[in-house]
Amino acid sequence: MLSIPVHYRDDLESVMIPYGLILDRTEALATQIFNDFGNEPLVCLCVLKGGYRFFSDLTKRIQSPNRTNGNKSLPMMLDFIRLKSYHNTESSGQVEIIGGDDLNNLRGKNVLIVEDMIDTGRTMVKLISRLKEFAPKQVKTCTLLVKRTSLSNGFEPDYTGFSIPEKFIVGYALDLNEHFRDLEVS
Ligand code: IMP
Ligand code: MG
Repeated sequence: MLSIPVHYRDDLESVMIPYGLILDRTEALATQIFNDFGNEPLVCLCVLKGGYRFFSDLTKRIQSPNRTNGNKSLPMMLDFIRLKSYHNTESSGQVEIIGGDDLNNLRGKNVLIVEDMIDTGRTMVKLISRLKEFAPKQVKTCTLLVKRTSLSNGFEPDYTGFSIPEKFIVGYALDLNEHFRDLEVS
């Protein structure tokens, strides 16, 4: 029986993904990432606020093969950014990066962006092109969720947790006007 906090019970249509399932999938993604990047330092870049729960669970699980894989190990640096979007017009919408360390530190590094959700893909495309100005070795993307939407710009992340139908999702750090970030259903 899945339990939903009483104060959210009337607000939710259904539970899409229970926490245990997120963790199972996250562990598989962590193994894949470890195998793909092993031995070369990786900057894991959390897109706040929505990405923080997934980022925490994912980076923790990349650490476990680090302890048990003999000579192979993946040194990680963890960093956090927030994005501010300006949508004056559809095409000139800019993404400004706020917070985080000096992005010049990304020069020559493998970077993994960790995000909560890809919807139209616009945010990700703009973020990647902004980060590339700092000359990283490569930029890869990992998202917990991808929405199946006709509004997609075709962007495909390198690592995806779940592909979901076009619904508005909350919980596990995803919000609706800052509500529901604390929601977790297990
Ligand atoms: P995109 O630029 O259209 O891909 O939008 C991506 C951003 O919109 C994500 O980083 C989320 O923060 C937010 N977003 C899109 N769909 C949802 C949702 O269903 N729940 C919460 N946030 C969402
Ligand atoms: Mg987000």
